Amino acid sequence: MQIHVYDHAQQVGQAAATLLAAQLISKPNSVLGLATGSTPIPTYQALISLYKAGVVDFSSASSFNLDEYVGLPAGHPCSYHSFMREQLFDHVNMPADHIHIPDGNAADPQTECARYDQAITAAGGIDMQVLGIGRNGHIGFNEPADDFTYGTHVVTLAADTIEANARFFKSADEVPRQAVSMGIGNIMAAKCVVLVATGENKAKAVYDTIRGPITPRVPASVLQLHPCCVILTDREAGKLMLEE
Ligand code: F6R
Repeated sequence: MQIHVYDHAQQVGQAAATLLAAQLISKPNSVLGLATGSTPIPTYQALISLYKAGVVDFSSASSFNLDEYVGLPAGHPCSYHSFMREQLFDHVNMPADHIHIPDGNAADPQTECARYDQAITAAGGIDMQVLGIGRNGHIGFNEPADDFTYGTHVVTLAADTIEANARFFKSADEVPRQAVSMGIGNIMAAKCVVLVATGENKAKAVYDTIRGPITPRVPASVLQLHPCCVILTDREAGKLMLEE
């Protein structure tokens, strides 16, 4: 693992965007794995700036998002489809048919999971996967569990995740209880993984991910086994690492 602790969240975003830009420059038809949530927003802002400055081009690139809530239509303001349009896709030139996000509103979510895995395989696998991390150590919506899950699957969100994500909805009651998420196997199959973490409430999850035992109770800890994993944090999220 490569671990970099920056002073500010903005620098984390700049660093992650720099890695994504380098990926796109060296392989214009890269397959990017993308995350939602607050943490990657500065990354997407920095990437948009690089696109507007003519440094990166998304016209041959494609993307697969980690997850989507079950039961939210793509057009719902709190869907991850909407989030990605607002935070990235409306501002860069990735063709719409190169963008893949699980359909949380599929009539048969299990079939949708299989379709999504097949689409990732057909695209040649993910070159660079962006990850955030939950306070409970989740990546994608792979919540703490007894086992690691391989492929895309339907997950029941942990109480902590519902509480953490309630800020995007009118109330916690409105947060969907399930999501379709790429599995740990999909994430580990990415050629390179870039995990971004900012804020003090991520410090324990970051520490356990890097220094703790590899366990499905801290899903991100499996990244210790990834051959190309870069972890970018600000001072707050890297706090327990710095105290060592
Ligand atoms: C989002 C995702 C989640 C988030 C995590 C952190 O696609 O897969 O794992 O990355 O919940 O979310 P924020 O960044 O909002 O703290």
